[in-house]
Amino acid sequence: MDKIIKLAFGTDHAAAEVRNKIKEYFQSSGYEIEDFGFCGEGSCDYPDYALKVAEAVVGKKADKGVLICGTGIGMSVAANKVKGVIAAVCWDEDTAKLAAQHNGANILCLGSRTATLNELCRRIKIFLETPFEKRHSQRIKKIREIEKLQCQK
Ligand code: RB5
Repeated sequence: MDKIIKLAFGTDHAAAEVRNKIKEYFQSSGYEIEDFGFCGEGSCDYPDYALKVAEAVVGKKADKGVLICGTGIGMSVAANKVKGVIAAVCWDEDTAKLAAQHNGANILCLGSRTATLNELCRRIKIFLETPFEKRHSQRIKKIREIEKLQCQK
């Protein structure tokens, strides 16, 4: 994939403090960001935002997605229920790079309670800039086969 242009972005209340700063950073770096929320007061349910971002990515309205909740876990569990999504929780720059390169992840999930703003931005940047390596295609194909079989049940 060429440089990622369109990014689907979603957060829950746990990411309220960092969400605008992250958006501004990537917008000023040339990314087009579609923000699916949550941007209200109080708390919300992360699956609502995971679904919106997942649908944008599999519907090809975005090249990749980024979801942030307290840990990244809830967002990844919910997003991975959508057919075509490979959502990965990444805890450092290496895992963010490998999720794109080896696992073909199309959504990065991060924890606002487990990383600083700078760490979150660096993980997102490397995830967006790293292309998938085709030599891993066979494994992704097998994941798709599991998905196909299990989704018929
Ligand atoms: C919300 O308090 C928290 O549970 C959520 O942000 C996330 O960490 C879930 O995985």
